[in-house]
Amino acid sequence: MPEATMDKIVALAKRRGFVFPSSEIYGGLNSCWDYGPFGVELKKNIQEFWWRSMTLRPDVVGLDASILMHPKVWEASGHVENFTDPLVDCRQCKARFREDEIPPEKMAKRQCPNCGNKDTLTEARRFNLMFKTFMGPVEEDASVVYLRPETAQGIYVNYLNVQTTTRLKVPFGIAQVGKAFRNEITPGNFIFRTREFEQMEMQFFVKPGEDGKWFEYWRNQRMEYYQKLGIRPEKLRFHPHEKDELAHYAKEACDVQYEFPFGWQELEGIHNRTDFDLKRHQEYSGKSLLYFDDATNEKYLPFIIETSAGLNRTMLTVLVDAYWEDTAHERVVLKLHPRLAPIKAVICPLVKKDGLAEIAEKITEDLRWHFPVLYDQQGGIGKRYYRQDEIGTPYGITVDYQTKEDQTVTLRDRDTLDQIRLPYTALAQEIEKRLRSA
Ligand code: GAP
Repeated sequence: MPEATMDKIVALAKRRGFVFPSSEIYGGLNSCWDYGPFGVELKKNIQEFWWRSMTLRPDVVGLDASILMHPKVWEASGHVENFTDPLVDCRQCKARFREDEIPPEKMAKRQCPNCGNKDTLTEARRFNLMFKTFMGPVEEDASVVYLRPETAQGIYVNYLNVQTTTRLKVPFGIAQVGKAFRNEITPGNFIFRTREFEQMEMQFFVKPGEDGKWFEYWRNQRMEYYQKLGIRPEKLRFHPHEKDELAHYAKEACDVQYEFPFGWQELEGIHNRTDFDLKRHQEYSGKSLLYFDDATNEKYLPFIIETSAGLNRTMLTVLVDAYWEDTAHERVVLKLHPRLAPIKAVICPLVKKDGLAEIAEKITEDLRWHFPVLYDQQGGIGKRYYRQDEIGTPYGITVDYQTKEDQTVTLRDRDTLDQIRLPYTALAQEIEKRLRSA
């Protein structure tokens, strides 16, 4: 079977209105992307599925913290000091690299991976990835604020607000989805690594000593989640962090990786962050962040198990995993899980004339109340379906001459191409049944 390549994915995403280059009429802006009509729906469906998988639990609640936070937050978190990449320049061609991404044999000769010249790479310097801006009209050091490089800190500084207002008891979690910004040295691979992206993070607060158990629990939950999204299990794996890979705040960590066309890469990180964050915020703010356990009369700083996923990266995973060249029928199909498909059904009159278009439009209006649908009367019926196959629409409905006689239509399945005939009044129920059981 022909494999999905990044070129094919990027071309399909553009052709079918999933993702466009940002500011395209001005030549684009490096690594910035805009989500078109189907992209925004697909991303929203992934986000909603994540949100429900977290907040439908009785022990997890949501939060939406501000992107701009007090600058001291980033001192306490360690980002001002540690959130750096080693940046290396080529003196000849001016290309820039992350030192850790240059193959060791090239680094030994200080050879540029771009132009091939030797002895041309500079010494590495620490480059902080946080975007800086100014709060208020005066551009001075005192008014520097940062665009958050992760959503997690908004949760940590609010954890007692959430706990006291909801009266949740440890263990409990706080979930958040939102934009984060990193001035990446080497963004790339389409929407895999960008400077502006969205995270879906959940921080789970547990009693110290119970952290190991909860780390295991969330690791397994997160793998199950990706399988429920319809991702092929053989393309997913865990990557446990070795001691020398661990972030400065972590006691134990594990990534969920996916096999992209450019290799196995991180999709999500699960970390046992201990009480590092709460301890630091307590120290830097001077405010007690102790949790009071009224059952045992104990006061302590909870340990935190973090699950941190990229929304855009998950969408890329979903696109790559769903891409299927059906050579038997000369078509490209996005085999999206029906739960994620931006449009659930397309309604096509066989021809525009003889009253078929009017019936198809009425069916479209009726179904619109149940799930997202599209009406399409343009071009041959085969072409119309192939267009929808590329968008990932799981069901196709054709209104033909028989519909005028007995009020039945055909219902086509995107993947098997099986067709059944049924009364159009039964469509909503049938499609809803299939969506539920998929
Ligand atoms: N709070 C922990 C944290 O931010 P991370 O491993 O730096 O951990 C978590 O990021 C997830 O966010 C990654 O697994 C990835 O899915 C996503 N992510 C991180 N940087 C990204 C970028 N530049 N572009 C797109 N997604 C990114």
